[in-house]
Amino acid sequence: MITITKASIQSWDRFYRTNFINSLSGFKSVCLIGTVSKEGIPNLAVFSNIVHLGADPAMIGFINRPKAAAPDTIRNIEDTCLYTMNHIHPGIIEQAHQTSAKYDAAVNEFEVVGLNELWRDGCTAPFVQESRIQYLLSLAEIIAIPSNGTFLVTGYIESVYLSEDLREGDGFLPLEKYSSVTSLGIDAYYQTEKIHRLPYAKP
Ligand SMILES: Cc1cc2nc3c(=O)[nH]c(=O)nc-3n(C[C@H](O)[C@H](O)[C@H](O)COP(=O)(O)O)c2cc1C
Repeated sequence: MITITKASIQSWDRFYRTNFINSLSGFKSVCLIGTVSKEGIPNLAVFSNIVHLGADPAMIGFINRPKAAAPDTIRNIEDTCLYTMNHIHPGIIEQAHQTSAKYDAAVNEFEVVGLNELWRDGCTAPFVQESRIQYLLSLAEIIAIPSNGTFLVTGYIESVYLSEDLREGDGFLPLEKYSSVTSLGIDAYYQTEKIHRLPYAKP
């Protein structure tokens, strides 16, 4: 094994360090987050620091970088309290990745990257029409993380939409059958293959 110390990580070039540290925590649940500003401009951005917080109440969280670096999604969520998560499949990876560009708040990323907005009746946040798994969240909390200026945004799952009903008998969603991709680092996307499902572990 080789040893890499905190001091050597700190000495690295910024982009090298970013690639290394972003890969270290593992494969991630990458999604497109759809929001709308209070001025009515739709916003779409790719996020991969997404985490399951609990099933009852059903809650999902994600990490937003400091507001100076990634301002639009978090501001729209603060203003409207509603946002959508949309899984990515291989057919829309390029468009999804392009949403990470720093577009001005006045730009509608759906239009510039070439994805279609889907507005559901009674719902004020936009979904990605091309996405095969979509869900709507309402804001629970925005928790500041003072150590590095990031935010944990937590939300309640309000509704879920699946392109096909591929649920297993016990509720498990085999995401590989929907071709949902996973991401690694800040620019790599992977397809997945299930190895096993194992029985509930007991002592
Ligand atoms: C694969 C990938 C994953 C990303 N994950 C996150 C993330 O979890 N949190 C974050 O704040 N930004 C993340 N970004 C960067 C945002 O997509 C980018 O800052 C975007 O411009 C934010 O847009 P906004 O200002 O509309 O919120 C990611 C970028 C890529 C390419």
